[in-house]
Amino acid sequence: MGFAQLSRGRSSRALALALCVWSLISLSCAARLTDSSRQKLDVQKHLNRLNKPAVKSIKSPDGDIIDCVHISQQAAFDHPYLKDHKIQMRPNYHPEGLFNENKVAEKTKERSNPQVQLWHANGRCPEDTIPVRRTREDDILRASSVKAYGRKKQRSIPKSADPDLANESGHQHAIVYVNGDKYYGAKATINVWEPKIQQPNEFSLSQLWILGGSFGEDLNSIEAGWQVSPDLYGDNNTRLFTYWTSDAYQATGCYNLLCSGFIQINSEIAMGASISPVSGLRGSQYDISILVWKDPKEGHWWMQFGNDYVLGYWPSFLFSYLADSASMIEWGGEVVNSEPDGQHTSTQMGSGRFPEEGFGKASYFRNIQVVDSSNNLKAPKGLGTFTEQSNCYDVQTGSNGDWGHYFYYGGPGKNPNCP
Ligand SMILES: *[C@@H]1O[C@H](CO)[C@@H](O)[C@H](O)[C@H]1NC(C)=O
Ligand SMILES: *[C@@H]1O[C@H](CO)[C@@H](O)[C@H](O)[C@H]1NC(C)=O
Repeated sequence: MGFAQLSRGRSSRALALALCVWSLISLSCAARLTDSSRQKLDVQKHLNRLNKPAVKSIKSPDGDIIDCVHISQQAAFDHPYLKDHKIQMRPNYHPEGLFNENKVAEKTKERSNPQVQLWHANGRCPEDTIPVRRTREDDILRASSVKAYGRKKQRSIPKSADPDLANESGHQHAIVYVNGDKYYGAKATINVWEPKIQQPNEFSLSQLWILGGSFGEDLNSIEAGWQVSPDLYGDNNTRLFTYWTSDAYQATGCYNLLCSGFIQINSEIAMGASISPVSGLRGSQYDISILVWKDPKEGHWWMQFGNDYVLGYWPSFLFSYLADSASMIEWGGEVVNSEPDGQHTSTQMGSGRFPEEGFGKASYFRNIQVVDSSNNLKAPKGLGTFTEQSNCYDVQTGSNGDWGHYFYYGGPGKNPNCP
């Protein structure tokens, strides 16, 4: 009996222990369930905000879904300041001459530039709609939080004006810039590549920056170009993108149409969609033109892609400094160096080749120009260059008749001189 008692005592203790472990597990399970269902709800709410009802949806060969959303239902109009906004269907002024319907119609007919977007292979959006890359649950789950999705981490700005702070964020640049004047826009023709990204949380981009204010808390920035960003898009494709902020990447702004701000009028080009084709080493070179300018009448900042596509505008009220003019323009490349394994990343900038390799190997920006106070495109005066570590990524400027002011830039990242 003694034995039986002992063993009963043992087994009841074991039972209690088992119950305790069980209740511990189920408690933490329940806690986890609540957390994850709350997150699911947040994600769903955000998806509903971003993905507006579509008139038509097109499946792109790269897996994207492009929703054709009625122009008046785009996310921009969720902004309280835009509730009564009268959408402008064209700019009042254009730095390459007054906007001319006939000229545009003609250009549309003879559209010879092969540089289009991949999704065009499977259809086009009807008139009065805009193509919007659909955000999926996975897109948001890759971000560190629902709030962080579509936004840059703070201080990813090239501090060319303040090189002491340049290494602060692990971002590396190879850029060309002008400052010391008032600027009303910028243009460039940018060679398109598909740089290799070592870690999904890194990115590589090539863009122009239109900047106002100081590199502190209140920087105003409009950015446009191409980027490869596995975390943002879920793949390694080269994509057309824009960005804006009016408070140094803190509370305002986002990529593409991922918050209300940019008003799109164009039915053919989707922000964040893949660009195809891209340039090959010693092969065909492809480039895209980007022009951003301030309409002197309404004060909005307009963006044009190629010669044919006026995409839309950032309303002036989004900005403080840029409501007047820009004080600095930058062009070039940026990568995130997260120092995987404690060494420099091997994420490539541009083509992954150094500038001295030249045409067909190195990536370039050509015909870089600024818009002056008379709304004319002009060659930039007093170009500066900036890199944090030229052994990792570098830049070299030049000028000639065809290419105006141009530069080669980029590099492989990690190499014997950049360990
Ligand atoms: C992106 O490229 C990296 C290597 O650079 C590779 O490991 C990864 O699988 C690629 N991702 C996708 C979605 O293709
Ligand atoms: C950035 O850091 C690298 C190495 O860590 C250093 O060689 C370089 O001088 C730094 N650049 C600036 C502008 O501080």
